[in-house]
Amino acid sequence: QRISARGGRGLLDMEGALTARDRVGIQDFVLLDTHTSENAFLDNLKKRFNEDLIYTYIGTLLVSVNPYKQLDIYSKKQMDIYMGVNFFELPPHIYALADNAYHTMLAEANNHFILISGESGAGKTEASKKILQYYAVSCPSVSPMDRVRDRMLLSNPVLEAFGNAKTLKNDNSSRFGKYMDIQFDIQGEAVGGHILSYLLEKSRVVHQNQGERNFHIFYQLVEGGEEDLLRQLGLESNSQHYSYLVKGQCANMTSVNDQNDWRTVRNALSSIEFDNGDIQDLFGVIASVLHLGNVQFESDNKGNAKLNNSAELRWVSTLLGVSVQVLQEGLTYRKIEANTDEVLSPFTVDYATYARDALAKAIYGRAFTWLVNKINESMENKDLSRKTVIGLLDIYGFEVFYVNSFEQFCINYCNEKLQQLFIQLTLKSEQEEYEAEGIGWEPVQFFNNKIICDLVEEKHRGIISLLDEECLRPGEATDLTFLERLEEKMGSHPHFVTHKLADKTTRKTLERGDFRLLHYAGEVTYCVVGFLDKNNDLLYRNIKDVMRESKNAIVRECFASMESDNRRRPETVASQFKSSLVGLTDILMSKEPWYVRCLKSNESKQPGRFDDSLVLHQVKYLGLTEHLRVRRAGFAYRRRYEVFLQRYKPLCPATWPHWKGLPADGVEVLVRHLGYQPDEYKMGRTKIFIRHPRTLFATEDAFEICKNDLASRIQAQYKGYRQKGEFRKQKEAATKIETCWRGVQARKEKERRQWAVKVIKKFIKGYMTRGEAKTTDNSEYLVFVRQSYLNRLKNNLPKTVLDKTTWLSPPPVLTETSAILRQIHMRLLVRKYVRGITAQQKAQVSPAIFKGKKDNYPQSIPQPFVETRISEEDINIKVLQMIRHERIKYSVPIVKYDRNGFKPRPRQLVLTQTAAYMVDDAKINAACLIAGVSVSPLSDGIIIFHVANEDVKQKGDLIMQCDHLFELLTKLSVVANKQNAIKVVQGSITFQIQAGKEGVVDFSSGSESMVYKDRNGHLMVVSHATVAR
Ligand SMILES: Nc1ncnc2c1ncn2[C@@H]1O[C@H](COP(=O)(O)OP(=O)(O)O)[C@@H](O)[C@H]1O
Ligand SMILES: [Mg+2]
Repeated sequence: QRISARGGRGLLDMEGALTARDRVGIQDFVLLDTHTSENAFLDNLKKRFNEDLIYTYIGTLLVSVNPYKQLDIYSKKQMDIYMGVNFFELPPHIYALADNAYHTMLAEANNHFILISGESGAGKTEASKKILQYYAVSCPSVSPMDRVRDRMLLSNPVLEAFGNAKTLKNDNSSRFGKYMDIQFDIQGEAVGGHILSYLLEKSRVVHQNQGERNFHIFYQLVEGGEEDLLRQLGLESNSQHYSYLVKGQCANMTSVNDQNDWRTVRNALSSIEFDNGDIQDLFGVIASVLHLGNVQFESDNKGNAKLNNSAELRWVSTLLGVSVQVLQEGLTYRKIEANTDEVLSPFTVDYATYARDALAKAIYGRAFTWLVNKINESMENKDLSRKTVIGLLDIYGFEVFYVNSFEQFCINYCNEKLQQLFIQLTLKSEQEEYEAEGIGWEPVQFFNNKIICDLVEEKHRGIISLLDEECLRPGEATDLTFLERLEEKMGSHPHFVTHKLADKTTRKTLERGDFRLLHYAGEVTYCVVGFLDKNNDLLYRNIKDVMRESKNAIVRECFASMESDNRRRPETVASQFKSSLVGLTDILMSKEPWYVRCLKSNESKQPGRFDDSLVLHQVKYLGLTEHLRVRRAGFAYRRRYEVFLQRYKPLCPATWPHWKGLPADGVEVLVRHLGYQPDEYKMGRTKIFIRHPRTLFATEDAFEICKNDLASRIQAQYKGYRQKGEFRKQKEAATKIETCWRGVQARKEKERRQWAVKVIKKFIKGYMTRGEAKTTDNSEYLVFVRQSYLNRLKNNLPKTVLDKTTWLSPPPVLTETSAILRQIHMRLLVRKYVRGITAQQKAQVSPAIFKGKKDNYPQSIPQPFVETRISEEDINIKVLQMIRHERIKYSVPIVKYDRNGFKPRPRQLVLTQTAAYMVDDAKINAACLIAGVSVSPLSDGIIIFHVANEDVKQKGDLIMQCDHLFELLTKLSVVANKQNAIKVVQGSITFQIQAGKEGVVDFSSGSESMVYKDRNGHLMVVSHATVAR
């Protein structure tokens, strides 16, 4: 909106500044309570300067104090902070101004300019660079390559090299005025640039005051140029060698690094479309100027200048591509036209030197113009779509030296003009605003410098007119006749004084050849010497003709155009300058202004030094306090009703939280509630105007207090609101997710069912055709049948070898397989069983003695043999001691039958490795050699040990009954390893009662087992008949 263009931004920022006002001064002078006090103004600047806060506003105007040190406030991060931000609460900054100008331009689609002013060394050029960088970095960019932006940035070091020089005031002083348009397209992209340059201080090429230097480029080339290049140009790598470089006696200085700068410039030149030819020609120009400076004239016997064919002259001739003779002639003669004839008239040495310097200045000056044009070409935007511009004006600042000459006169005149423009624009805008708001204008006292502008530029009466007249008039005009003319015409002017016109005390401070102007920025005494020459800037026509023939394209081009056949005198320098300033004023007047006012903190370029009187002087002459007065004329603060109400409405119950009516009425209610006195404010058409800052401060303080209170209430409400919103959102989300999930589930279920139907169908078909050969229909079913049969079979296999019944009947397809498996499984079981048989078990079955021979053998098989039947504890200790050397292999209780009466007696039979012992309690009854063992084929347990005949002590055979007959006999046979000794005897068994006397044991089967002595004297053994074998 329009409001943000002028005044609006500063106002927007103002309340933010209020909060900071007690911290480090005030960020906006408009809010300074004692706004008319220069000391208060200075104090505020100083306070902030000491905290490295170099920027302060006066409304929209930015005051900048040169810190002479690098501050960490120009980073990309800082740019981002200021970019597009509506300024609230942000400290003043050059970026803020740049950004505000930019956004206003975009919003209003109109043109703007930023006027950067201040005296030499105050930081104008730095400020303009910061602004340019800000635009280059921050503006949106759609084009793939930012060529234009790069070139805009790169053009800077080049122009500075050719147009800046060290002066006493500034090591990098701009010696030309620069106005640069940055063109933006509708999207806000920087798409083009154009530079206008103003009056380069050419005299510097041939002369520098003590402590000053020529333009940087000369030193950069000589000190930094590559060996090859220097050889090509015939230059020595030593500035001391060139008379044009040492006039100020400070060619080399520490604060400037010519070598580094050379590289920067060299690279920049390549980047802005200077081809090698251009670059060569350009350095050819620079070198030729240096050589020209070293060309010396001698006087011949008539006092005329004579030029030897020196090396320097030859270099000039080579570099400019002009023959030595022609050059020689051009430098020592002038062509005079007498009627139709041309006569050559020789120069005196002085004249020749003058002509030489004039040539050097002309070449350099024109090459500079060529350079600017060339840069403009490279930044040009050829697209015809609508563009808006922001102009950056960085022009030489007000200058006062010990001796001031024509250049200072022009420079200071220029500053005078800009000050005039500034006054007109600010007053105008201020008055316009009052008018627009319908508030009476209260006139402000301020110094209008129009009177000085007129003194300098007025037609026919101004200094420039008189100077031109003096230059052009026939007859002997000199600088001093010019001074006399001035005295005649200006005699009584309050801003003009000379030695002659001055009163006694002033006269002491003036030389006879001086005139003094009382500029808006202070008094400056100018020495008239050289005014006429410099204003004429004469270059003899024949040397111009010579230059037009130059083989150096730049020189040829520079001299070709204009004056070729124009016999009229060219416009004087001052007139040219004056009209260029008129042109500039026109350019600026058509645009919206923004101002940056740069102040020098001290004269010695030192960081941290704030020279009160120096700064105060600048504050005064820059009219800062006046500007402030204008801005404060009557009212310190103004604000659109909506905005004012929006901010302060919490302070009044009637306006909080909403005011339903017109904003203006709301504001009226609000300020009445706050107790504003009628003379403290005025209600405009769209704005409220507040007279004193303190009224606003009080309001703002009240707001601060109220804000805290409000904050918690708003916070609570906001939280609730957020919470509700959050809950609703979550619920919506949940429903959505649920729906989705259900869908997914349903689709899954459907798929599952479809699959199931298919599988079941196939299963049934397979079942129905299960008996048929494998087809596609039943193959899967058969696989299933197979699998399930095998799985079931796996869990129902027979567990023992003897189990012949357990086997799942197979489905038809597996009949054969099943049979094979059964066989395999049986083999496996058998194998397992056999592997598991212990030695003893083997022994148990090994004797084939009884198999099929004794009736109860089959019943005995399932009963496993045991280690022994009587544990050692149950054997009498004495017995154990007796046989302690032998290991007991087996013991078993038996019943022994006497040989004669067959009386049964319980005994223990103990087998060791060597013998079988019959133990009767503690006594071993018998130990004898056993020759054989007989048993019956029936189910009884009778065993007869046949004792060997040769046994001397033998009493007769042993008859016994043992419940574990098989076990005992097997063990015995294993121990004795004599299986053949055991005989199953059919019928009766004869035994020896004693040597030569035999007894018989008869066996029979009966329903009851019995053992008794039969009537025939035999032992009768009846055994329970077993079931069929
Ligand atoms: N913002 C700044 N920060 C740091 N140094 C600065 C700043 N502005 C100016 N300077 C210093 O002051 C010198 C002179 O500034 P310059 O812009 O060339 O002055 P002007 O153009 O007004 O004559 C610079 O070379 C630099 O050393
Ligand atoms: Mg400058």
